[in-house]
Amino acid sequence: MAGSGVFEAIISGKGGHAATPQLSIDPILAASHVIISLHHLVSREADPLDPQVLTVGKFQGGGAFNVIPDYVRIGGTFRAFSREGLKHLKQRIEQVIVGQAAVQKCNTTVNFLAEKNPLYPPTINNGENLPGINNIDKQPIMAAEDFAFYQEVIPGYFFILGMEYNSSEPFRSLHSPYLKINEDGLPYGAALHASLATSYLILYQQDVAKVEKSIDEL
Ligand SMILES: *[C@@H]1O[C@H](CO)[C@@H](O)[C@H](O)[C@H]1NC(C)=O
Ligand SMILES: *[C@@H]1O[C@H](CO)[C@@H](O)[C@H](O)[C@H]1NC(C)=O
Repeated sequence: MAGSGVFEAIISGKGGHAATPQLSIDPILAASHVIISLHHLVSREADPLDPQVLTVGKFQGGGAFNVIPDYVRIGGTFRAFSREGLKHLKQRIEQVIVGQAAVQKCNTTVNFLAEKNPLYPPTINNGENLPGINNIDKQPIMAAEDFAFYQEVIPGYFFILGMEYNSSEPFRSLHSPYLKINEDGLPYGAALHASLATSYLILYQQDVAKVEKSIDEL
């Protein structure tokens, strides 16, 4: 799974009456330019073989048909599979927002909200195969997973247990308030964990046997 981060920016202009734009600095137009420029980061700067995503999901500003607001708040998420890709995106997001807003005479503050939303590292499994697991969808996905923080400290392996209902009801995704857990899947999860534990113990015993053998040979 990808590593991810979030950003938020306030683009400040000068509010005024919509009929006299020449007396204002329009932050809505500036924010629009900023968003178009941000989208060039993935299409023009990212290695096509290192998938990245940048989505601006928040655009808040203005509240009337005939008023140019003082400022606009935008925010979004960026994702990449490599730490370098993530770091590059983060650095360029700030440069593009500040630079492009300045072209439109606006000031900006950019915030990566590190306290509440630290950069998630990519989730990369240790080892190719885990004994007992043989039916894995190995396609990478751009979702991010805080399990990756454990893997910063100890080797780890992330897998997903299927639990889709065999029914005609539409399947609700993980973040849907209508998600129903199919508890029939739980025994398979328990069995899988038990099988991983026994496989580990068997491997571990082989290692112990090897060590004992080499000690005997000494
Ligand atoms: C931007 O910041 C400068 C320096 O503080 C200030 O003089 C200017 O009025 C600001 N412009 C806007 C559009 O907020
Ligand atoms: C799913 O339901 C269909 C139709 O009721 C049935 O034929 C099929 O065997 C079921 N599959 C599983 C895995 O239970």
